[in-house]
Amino acid sequence: MTRRKQIYEGKAKVLFEGPEPGTIVQYFKDDATAFNNKKKGTVTGKGVLNNRISEHLMIKLNDMGIPTHLIKRLNMREQLIKKVEIIPIEVVVRNIVAGSLAVRLGLKEGDKLSRSIVEFFYKSDELNDPLITEEHITAFDWASTYEMDEIVTMSLRINDFLSGLFFGAGIKLIDFKLEFGRIYSKDEVKIILADEISPDSCRLWDLKTDEKLDKDRFRRDLGNTAEAYQEVARRLGVLPESSNNFTDEKLN
Ligand code: TMP
Repeated sequence: MTRRKQIYEGKAKVLFEGPEPGTIVQYFKDDATAFNNKKKGTVTGKGVLNNRISEHLMIKLNDMGIPTHLIKRLNMREQLIKKVEIIPIEVVVRNIVAGSLAVRLGLKEGDKLSRSIVEFFYKSDELNDPLITEEHITAFDWASTYEMDEIVTMSLRINDFLSGLFFGAGIKLIDFKLEFGRIYSKDEVKIILADEISPDSCRLWDLKTDEKLDKDRFRRDLGNTAEAYQEVARRLGVLPESSNNFTDEKLN
């Protein structure tokens, strides 16, 4: 981990220079933060599980025509990804009321939305990732109108696909956060899905019991966070049924 040149360290991941130009190695840490770094902790094994889960979901999305930054998983904690110019917005898609939407509008968590809602947040720790509209994004040139059309279309397709995929695993996809980036080739600029899709960036509830199987276990001190992530991985079929140790070398 220390031999390569570190490019960036985020709250849950570290980025290193990749072996070829235009590539990056994305390392998944066990560190967890919430409420913009006010709450900090470690969830043992989280990085290994998120690496696996995100790989699995991005491969599936790629297969159904959503371009992603994933090239391949390298080992238990690392994946090789395409270097992108990150668009500084978080795209949140919501199917059921939860989290900041419930707080902001005084709604009851768990209420179904009559249609999926797409929200945008400006990626800025200093400003606490404020809610913004497409008007801000285009006015400040964070993305063009054309790029935003692409981003919204892709986000809704991802929502449909992932909702079905999780449903098949006995899980309700309540909401999730996506990040997108640009890659430049000779004569075109392409928008691709970046970052990660994992229980850190999604709300996932058990279909029958509504038990939380995501980072809200850490945010709300519910306990058994690693076990919940492991359960998601197991249901998605990315952990062998018999495996009860997610740091097992066999996963490599
Ligand atoms: P929110 O309800 O707190 O706005 O979160 C919406 C979704 O976005 C939820 O699935 C968790 C995810 N999320 C992140 O991935 N990173 C963040 O920094 C925040 C605030 C939320």
